[in-house]
This record gives sequence, structure tokens and C-alpha cells, in this order.
Amino acid sequence: MGMEAGSVERVDVDVPGEGTQATAPDFRAVFESDSALLALLEPQAPEHRVVAVSDAYARAVNLPRAALIGRGLFEILPEEPGATDATAAQGVRASLEAILDGAPSSRTRLRPSRVAGDERVWQCSHSAVLGGADELVWIVHRVEDVSAREWELRQTAERERALRESEQQCSALATENKQLKARLRDLEAIEHENVRLHRATGRAIELRDQVLETVAHDLGNWLGSIQLQLQLLRRPAALPERRSLKPVEASEQAARRMHCIVQDLLQVARLESGHVELKPARVSPAALLRRVFEIHQPAFVASPVTLRTDLVGTPDDVYVDVDRVLRVFDNLLGNAMKFTTSGTITIGCAQEGNVVFWVSDTGRGIPPPEIPHLFERFWQARRLNTDGSGLGLAIASRIVELHGGRIWVESELGVGSKFCFTVPSASAAREWVR
Ligand SMILES: Nc1ncnc2c1ncn2[C@@H]1O[C@H](COP(=O)(O)OP(=O)(O)OP(=O)(O)O)[C@@H](O)[C@H]1O
Ligand SMILES: [Mg+2]
Repeated sequence: MGMEAGSVERVDVDVPGEGTQATAPDFRAVFESDSALLALLEPQAPEHRVVAVSDAYARAVNLPRAALIGRGLFEILPEEPGATDATAAQGVRASLEAILDGAPSSRTRLRPSRVAGDERVWQCSHSAVLGGADELVWIVHRVEDVSAREWELRQTAERERALRESEQQCSALATENKQLKARLRDLEAIEHENVRLHRATGRAIELRDQVLETVAHDLGNWLGSIQLQLQLLRRPAALPERRSLKPVEASEQAARRMHCIVQDLLQVARLESGHVELKPARVSPAALLRRVFEIHQPAFVASPVTLRTDLVGTPDDVYVDVDRVLRVFDNLLGNAMKFTTSGTITIGCAQEGNVVFWVSDTGRGIPPPEIPHLFERFWQARRLNTDGSGLGLAIASRIVELHGGRIWVESELGVGSKFCFTVPSASAAREWVR
């Protein structure tokens, strides 16, 4: 290399073939313009003598260039660049050894130092300068202030850490949010349930008062009637054997009615408690209708209303507690008779998916607003009609529900009503039998 120790100079060279003098590049200017501290080293370990240094390097180690040239790197390498006291750093040696071992370049981080109160981070890198036969000729030794880059890296790491932290916080918040939402849903469900229970309690209280009122009213009426008849019997009129039997018969009828009411009340209470055990059996709808007809036909003998049976096709056998289904027919037929003055009452059955039974009449019909209340306990469109307690349909619907069936009514004012109910067919019955 055409470079004197300690300097890189501009030289004039002959360019072959042109016969004129050309100007070679000013390597020293290139060397000095580098922002890093540069030195050129001999590859011979352990000294690694300095062949050339940049002005910046000389300034950094606070020595004149002449004092540096020819000295071993480890005599002058400051442990902290910028400080005069120089100690060879382990990392630097290792980096140089890597070059000697054939690595094209290698670098190491020097210990951070303080320059004018600021912390500085230095990086030392080496690169091999090879000759024509690929032999190691020089080693470029380069010390660089990487504080700004380091600061950037630290900032980036700090930002990433903050980002990670905030992501963690976000995910923790999201989890908390989810838990809070779930808790909120639970609370809403509890509130919903409380409102429902509150309403149910309110309804139960209302119903209890209604029951008491109705029972007191109905039983009171019949009791009043008995008292009246007893007073008649007390009158010192005719001799007992000549007295009319009417008061006795009226009292008996009143007592029977009272007995019916009490039985119905007990029946409703039992059905609603859910402690009723059904005794189901397989029976054909035809046989069931025949039985209902036989029981009720006598009541129609002297009536302007006709009872008839309508069996459509051959519906499946059903699996029912026959006595209780008869009770349903009793109630429906009782009503039909009560509210029908002429025409026909029909008991029927058909297969419409399920097996459907019905009792239809040509009676007064039911006003549409009353229909949704019909199956409630003690509900009567009456208060006009004092014959009954309003328990019949409630009992009928509880019995049908116990069988897993459904009860409903179709009615037209002045034309008639049709009460229908389904019960399980024998083939599907096992599912609901408890
Ligand atoms: N076939 C019908 N035609 C017209 N209205 C009816 C018919 N069946 C029921 N209703 C109306 O529904 C009300 C309730 O009937 P439900 O059988 O429950 O009680 P009730 O017959 O009045 O009394 P109970 O059956 O306890 O003797 C009746 O009071 C009546 O207003
Ligand atoms: Mg009734």
C-alpha cells in the first residue's frame, strides 16, 4: 500500500496505457471523513501495532498521532474511549482473534462510559484487508459511538415492553370485562327471577284471596239456604208427618252442592300439588266414548237437547287414567248442558296427529275476551251465573296436562262451543308416564 505510517495521502500515479499523469483517490480524506474512530493495525498478535490512525482516534485517546503510530493497540486502547487511561478489553482481543481465524469482519461492544456526564456506548469492529493472495494484510479497527442507536434500540425495546404491558392489561381488562358481563347477566337473570317470583307471589296472594272469597261466597250461599230451610222446619205449623218434604230436599241439595265444592277444591289442590298418581291403561276411543255416553245419556232423556257421539275413523288406542278422563268429560258435558238450551251436544274423537277428543254444543257460545281465562281457577264469565264455582275447567285442564296433553276451546257467540283435548296414544304413552 502506498501509504506512509501515520497518514493516508493523495499521490500521483502513472496510469498505464494513457501516458498521462492521473490523480489517485485521496484515501486519507476518505479515512478522515468516516464518523467512526479509525485505525489500521498490523495483523500480528499480540501487539497489533498501529499503522495509521485517524485524527478523531488520536483526539479520542488524547495522544498525538506520532505517539500512536507503531504502538501496540493494547497499549493505547482506552477502556473507555475519550479517557486516557487505556486497558485492553477482552472483547476486542476476541474480535481480533476472529479476524486472524479468517472471519471477514467481527465486532464487540465496549463497556459504556461517561463523557461529559452523558453515558456513551461504544462498539468496536474489525474488518480484514486482504492482499492479492488472499493473505491478511491489515486489520481495520473501528470504534464507533453507538449511543444514539443504542438509545433508539432501548427506546424501541421500552416501547415494545410498554406495548406488551398494555396488551396484557388490555387482555386482562377484556377478561375482567367478560367476567363482569357474565356477572351482569347472572344478576339480570336473578333480578328477572326475583321479578317473576314477586309477580308469582302477588298472583298467588291474589288467587288465595279470590279462593277465600269465592269459597266463602259459594259455601255461604248454600249454608244460608240450609239455615232457611231449617227455620221453615222449626215453624210450629202442621204436625211433622204432615209437613212438606221440600225443606229437607232443598237442604239435601244444598249439602250435596257444598260437598261438591269442597271435593272440587280438594281435587284442584291435589292436582296442582303434582302429587297425583295416574293409573293409566290402554283403552280404545270408541269404548271411552261409549262409556261417557252411557253415563250421561239418562240426563238427556227429558231434555230438549240431544246427546250424540261422533267417532271419526279409527283413532289409535289411548293410554289414560280412565276415571280421570271421565272426570274431564263430566266437567265439559256439565258445562255444555248448563249453557245449551236447545240443539245438540256432541262427544267425539278423531286422529289429528294426536288423538283429539271433544265436547261440542249449540249453546250460547263464549265471548272472545273471556276465552283466555276459562281454564283459570274460579274464573267464571258469570257472577251472573251462580250455578258453579268456576273449578270445572281448571280441574279438566290439570288432568289433561298431567297426561301430557293440551286443552283448548273454539267458540262462536250464539252458535256454540267446542272444547277439545289431546291425550297420548298408547304407542307414544310411555314417555310421559312417571
Ligand atoms: N260450554 C260452554 N258454553 C258457554 N260458556 C261456558 C262453557 N263452558 C264453560 N263456560 C264458561 O266458563 C266458565 C268456567 O267454567 P267452569 O266449568 O270452570 O266453571 P263453572 O261451570 O262455572 O263451575 P263448576 O264447573 O265449578 O261447577 C263458566 O262459568 C262459563 O262462563
Ligand atoms: Mg263447570
